[in-house]
Amino acid sequence: MLDATKTAAARKLLTASTRSDVPPFMVMDVMAAAERIEAAGGHVIHMEVGQPAASAPRTALAAAHAALEQGRIDYTSALGIPSLRARIARHYRETYRCEVDPDRIVVTTGSSGAFILSFLALFEPGDRVAVTVPGYPPYRHILNALGCEPVLIETHSETRHALTGEALLAAHRKAPLKGVLVGSPANPTGTMMTREALTELIAVAESEGIRFISDEIYHGLDYAFPAVTAAELSPNAVVINSFSKYFCMTGWRVGWMVLPEPLVRPVERLQQNLAISVPTLSQIAAEAAFDGRDEMEAVKRGYEENRRILIEGLPRAGLVDFLPADGAFYLYADVSKFTADSFDFTKRMLAEAHVAATPGTDFDPARGKHFVRFSYARSADDMREAVRRITAWLGQISR
Ligand SMILES: Cc1ncc(COP(=O)(O)O)c(C=O)c1O
Repeated sequence: MLDATKTAAARKLLTASTRSDVPPFMVMDVMAAAERIEAAGGHVIHMEVGQPAASAPRTALAAAHAALEQGRIDYTSALGIPSLRARIARHYRETYRCEVDPDRIVVTTGSSGAFILSFLALFEPGDRVAVTVPGYPPYRHILNALGCEPVLIETHSETRHALTGEALLAAHRKAPLKGVLVGSPANPTGTMMTREALTELIAVAESEGIRFISDEIYHGLDYAFPAVTAAELSPNAVVINSFSKYFCMTGWRVGWMVLPEPLVRPVERLQQNLAISVPTLSQIAAEAAFDGRDEMEAVKRGYEENRRILIEGLPRAGLVDFLPADGAFYLYADVSKFTADSFDFTKRMLAEAHVAATPGTDFDPARGKHFVRFSYARSADDMREAVRRITAWLGQISR
């Protein structure tokens, strides 16, 4: 054992780096409080977590079982199992009628792994990268941790919360941007970009030399109109997707990117060094998940029913103002009629009505205090019960 005094002195020097100082997710506090209620015997309706309640398709589970039976689970090539990359390319042909060369596809550790790889491959420390608010917080936190500067651009209801070319240009004129990242369907708003809006934004970005990243993790979960992939619009866009949401495989940690051809080799070298390869069992299961489409479509129909229950039920409860729930499984509701502090609102709704939801402040530090995100990825019975509880609770507090 080392000398105790020296070890204690060395521990004092163990301060974490500034770049690791990323904010926590407030929803974690909500989840911890929900757990305490459940430990005491209460029954909480979970609308805070952004993950499907269903399990991976049976085809994926069977493929994983078979691979385990066979025994060895080796590394794969850094870009991913070739047959999985080819299967993903086929997915683009079948779903979007878009030809993508399998050589441009990289398998990643969820879309989270794809953010790290693409940001490293595209940007230098200090580069300014535009992201939208409200938006998924890790975009800006990962950029910060990598030494880049996230530039937050607010989106508005008039444009269905889509980033416009005009807003992008305005930010670029203030100080040059190196990149821009958008998601559609979006988290937390559930809104989608139309084909026209996405086409215009990519055109503006490309004409200004701003690299374009499209987070398409909620593709497949589109209700208002079909989602459009940036891969169809430009070979220069970096497209990020995942098996986490539509395929119900969050914990398997597997996703993919469609890369512009010149970035494939740099990303391959990064992945070789950072991770060697993505977990093999998950890649095998992911490939087989494409054969479980019927199950996934049934899950999607369940979300559509949940969405209908909320769109009809929440206004009766008094929550009349929410963004168009175009896709994903989120509904972003304006609660300013009831509170100026959405964090306190969600805490009270959990404690008093046993409904857990996420305060908007997680996604939009300024305007989020007026919003709450409801996730509708659970059962229809849960949604009906949530509407009943919220109606009773809001009735009480606004009396
Ligand atoms: C918009 C968005 N992008 C990316 C992710 C990360 O997902 P994963 O790493 O599981 O693919 C999430 C997770 O909730 C998300 O909401």
